[in-house]
Amino acid sequence: MAERLQKLIAKAGLASRREAETWITAGRVLLNGNPAQLGDRADLDFDRLEVDGRLVGPAQEKVTVLLNKPRGYVSTLKDPEGRKLVTDLVAAIPQRLFPVGRLDFNTEGLLLLTNDGGLAQHVTHPSHEIDKTYLVKVRGALSETMIKRLEGGIKLEDGKTAPAKVGNVRAVGSSSWFELTLHEGKNRQVRRMCEALNLTVVRLKRIRLGFLDLGELATGSYRHLTTAEITTLVKGK
Ligand code: URA
Repeated sequence: MAERLQKLIAKAGLASRREAETWITAGRVLLNGNPAQLGDRADLDFDRLEVDGRLVGPAQEKVTVLLNKPRGYVSTLKDPEGRKLVTDLVAAIPQRLFPVGRLDFNTEGLLLLTNDGGLAQHVTHPSHEIDKTYLVKVRGALSETMIKRLEGGIKLEDGKTAPAKVGNVRAVGSSSWFELTLHEGKNRQVRRMCEALNLTVVRLKRIRLGFLDLGELATGSYRHLTTAEITTLVKGK
């Protein structure tokens, strides 16, 4: 659908409509190679619109989904080893999404994917200290001393971990399950904290990120975040 040029420029996030109008009058806007006039309309599927020599693309709708990542997927956009990518699981969505942060190849659970750079930056920025809760299964028993060390901070090669919270500890057969809540995101943090205590992690699943949780979402499935959830997320609650 053809729309006024100032509207298209504003939708692409380049300027306000009013400013775009001044650009048009100043001759900075070309429509199909010719200087545009105020009042011109264009359809970006067919017309070539340029501002200062830069092509104006169609405005991308912002999309954010919450995925229940299965084991055996990498959360990068490419993998030199040809392993499966988390983006394969959202291939039905036309926008190109990228993962917000990382979960290891063998970690399951809550992973956001988005094309909204601002949202991704907000969620991953260390200063926002968004809580992340992991369900951890380890071999053997989890002693009181281990719990105190996990909660108090463990020295890793890249520094001591910040205070954390352990909850819901259960012994099942020869293994233990517990929930570990962190607000940092060091690389492989949970696995390395457990390794430091000689605990072998046999299962690791992120079950909560801030106020978001996995709910009843099946492994490998995703759902779109609601507008209210996105607003709350970027307000930092
Ligand atoms: N901690 C880990 O060790 N791995 C993850 O994927 C996430 C947190």
